[in-house]
Amino acid sequence: MCGIIGFTGYIDAKEVLLNGLAELEYRGYDSAGVAVFTDKGVETFKNVGKVAALRNEIPAGVESSCGIGHTRWATHGGVTKTNAHPHTCGKVTLIHNGIIENYHELAAELKNGGRIPQSQTDTEVAAMLLDSLYTGDAYEAISEAVKRLTGAYAFCIMFEDQKDVIYCIRKGSPLVACMAEEGAVIASDMVALLKYSKEYFVLPEFNIAKLTKNSIMVTDLYGNTVTPTMLSVNWDMSAAQKNGFKHYMLKEIHEQPESVKLTVRPRIKRENGAVLPDFSEDKVPDELFLNAGKIVITACGTAMHAGLVGRVLIEKMIRVPVSVEIASEFRYADPIVDEKSLVIVVSQSGETADTLAALRLAKEKGAKTLAIVNVKGSSIAREADYCMYTHAGPEIAVASTKAYTAQLAVFYLIACRFALATGKFDKEQATEFMNELEAVPEKIEKILEERGVIKELSKRLTPARDLFFIGRGLDYALSCEGSIKLKEITYIHSEAYAAGELKHGTLSLITGGTPVIALGTQKAVFPKLISNVKEVRARGAMVILVTNGANTDDMEKGICDEHLVIPACKDEFAPFLAAIYLQLIAYYTSSYRGLDVDQPRNLAKSVTVE
Ligand code: F6R
Repeated sequence: MCGIIGFTGYIDAKEVLLNGLAELEYRGYDSAGVAVFTDKGVETFKNVGKVAALRNEIPAGVESSCGIGHTRWATHGGVTKTNAHPHTCGKVTLIHNGIIENYHELAAELKNGGRIPQSQTDTEVAAMLLDSLYTGDAYEAISEAVKRLTGAYAFCIMFEDQKDVIYCIRKGSPLVACMAEEGAVIASDMVALLKYSKEYFVLPEFNIAKLTKNSIMVTDLYGNTVTPTMLSVNWDMSAAQKNGFKHYMLKEIHEQPESVKLTVRPRIKRENGAVLPDFSEDKVPDELFLNAGKIVITACGTAMHAGLVGRVLIEKMIRVPVSVEIASEFRYADPIVDEKSLVIVVSQSGETADTLAALRLAKEKGAKTLAIVNVKGSSIAREADYCMYTHAGPEIAVASTKAYTAQLAVFYLIACRFALATGKFDKEQATEFMNELEAVPEKIEKILEERGVIKELSKRLTPARDLFFIGRGLDYALSCEGSIKLKEITYIHSEAYAAGELKHGTLSLITGGTPVIALGTQKAVFPKLISNVKEVRARGAMVILVTNGANTDDMEKGICDEHLVIPACKDEFAPFLAAIYLQLIAYYTSSYRGLDVDQPRNLAKSVTVE
């Protein structure tokens, strides 16, 4: 939520900032702005809308080698130029990602010193506070400000009288930095640094980074030098580009065979013909599962939906109770977790504020914690007791696709390792399971080859106002994901229902032509699902039925309006494959509706506010 970048070095800062903001735009796109040191002092340029609109705002001839840039997802104050960052007060110009919770009180105090905010933002109050504390020593002002601020923040700050220097500090919100030949760069996400370096570090919370042309100096609040741990990524610029695809989302959908493979492969051990899950590189011991009297999975949105699949799988295979909790509810619900609980947190970004808070609460209560995270070195990855990375690479489209299937892959690995550890599976059963898992990428390829069919079919959904997803068991878990994907990028109202629940109220919403996507990949409940399909069709619904090639050869003809068949697989593995159909349906329907697929209205990736 909000993307920030700072640069000081030997090349045109304006270009570094604008290019970086374009990479970070997925984090918010309500407005954008930059502030740069020029011969005239600090000059600020802002505009509402996307980064392209900001580019037009900067006059030719602005020369600078140091500056800060921001792309905003509005929280406090509407989408206006005045509310766009950077914000300036006196000698201080800054950009901010996060929320200052006590900004009202601070603003009231600062009023006495004659500082009156021009905008409606919490951020400007932080600039006012810093200006009131600054007497020439940036460290002193920042350390003092930190004592007064509550909430979450990542700041990049320029002081008018310290040309070409940027100071940064964070609490909660992310900041990663690198030193490159071109200069020093700091940003919310590694994707903005990739052009300059693959080596980077996460700025530790409550540490101050001072960026000059030749160095990044990190110190704690007492002035002690800190040497942050260096991290590296093994992907290059092309991983964060569209590479010929019209949208990031379509590209990321197509990357799933690879991302599932990359996530599974390092966790496989082959011995004497057996193929077994192996977590030695992740350093996740079997005891973690063996000692888990209860498992709680907590996350938000799509990551939580991956947890719903994980729950069905683990409960079925291991017979240990699993609950899935929305992180924003979990954190305020005084949840029943203790030393005997294993809490699994799932997050693509590793920075989602509610998920991070849920993790911290679980730790406080003594639970063991395991994170499934995509972004290396992110807060959730660092703070959990154990971390299993998904290797999906950078996910730029706001709608999550490849991160979801990579999260599923980790849950399948966990379920299998857990089953082995508890003796529910012998090596032969585990091998069979792992062989199926290893076959998933190839089956995803097969579905992707059929995207033309989905493209055609999506035309029928384009005019819809409401749409329902129904399924049972794993299919219900996947329905939840299908529904969020569709509604977030097509703006069609959609709901996911456990198929058997429909007639307890929701059936009244089914009228002539209402599209219903029925997931029927599970043999054990297939006849029941078909009864539900008949019920909605009897009320005029237009039914798209998704079935498993392994189960539905002799399916009754004419039972649905459109029929999609996933490549034959064991029922447990169907969510991986049916998910691809649902993602493509959402993608093409959004495209036909002429919408911004990658950056849907009101949303942003990486939700670092509550
Ligand atoms: C939906 C989507 C969101 C995220 C949610 C959690 O397509 O992307 O629902 O899944 O905001 O984000 P992470 O996984 O970064 O914690």
